[in-house]
Amino acid sequence: MAKKRLVIGNWKMYIADAEEARALSLLLRRKLRGLTGVDVWIAPPTPFIAEIANLLESSPIKVGTQKVTYHADPKHTGSISATMMKGVGASFVIIGHSEYRSAAGTNDKVRAQLERTLDSGLVPVLCIGEESRSPEADYFSFVEGQLNAALRNVPKNLLKKLIVAYEPVWAIGKDASQAMKPADLREMGIFIRKILAELVGRESALKVPVLYGGSVEAENASTLIQEGGVNGFLVGRASARADSFLAIIEAVRQGSR
Ligand code: 13P
Repeated sequence: MAKKRLVIGNWKMYIADAEEARALSLLLRRKLRGLTGVDVWIAPPTPFIAEIANLLESSPIKVGTQKVTYHADPKHTGSISATMMKGVGASFVIIGHSEYRSAAGTNDKVRAQLERTLDSGLVPVLCIGEESRSPEADYFSFVEGQLNAALRNVPKNLLKKLIVAYEPVWAIGKDASQAMKPADLREMGIFIRKILAELVGRESALKVPVLYGGSVEAENASTLIQEGGVNGFLVGRASARADSFLAIIEAVRQGSR
């Protein structure tokens, strides 16, 4: 398993004001100076990325984007490409988030987003996760289908930077009590690595960081990192507040010792 831990803050639309985005970025820069053992990345809303990437240029915090277009052809009004985002300082792209998939983001479009991201040289953070849990456990085949659709036949050497974020949709946007249980997370993490091994080979699969997202808060971060078998978190709501985000980062740092 990849050793280094990673915590990504997906600000979604929780931070809607440029001043607030600036203040939180500067606070994180100050508080996380000298941090070791955990990488911290943030994905602000698109309009703030250029400025925040600039503010954080000399800090270890990387800035990324919540979405890029799947189109390759420039004849698309309103679309923003991975290459454009790279040009303004983004380092990674969140791909196939469930909130994007639910708005017509089919597996084909997610696959195309991944290809555009790989073409641009940015790091893909591929989100997968079932909508619900049934007693028949068909969530395993659902997740397998998403991984296959995104990754099958992508040249292995292009996937060296891949990050997978497992985010069960039913656990997103709730509170710590409704997050996934660590034992269930561990089980799914093992399954994801097994599918990855089939797709990219065992050695490469072991190097892919697998993150968990879905109601990670200061309250449950320690247990999830210590017992859930993942390499870190993709955090939504709790990443938009400095106190909760910093507490989660600290839990991951301690859990990685
Ligand atoms: P919450 O942490 O708000 O549940 O969101 C998780 C998520 O969707 C991160 O991408």
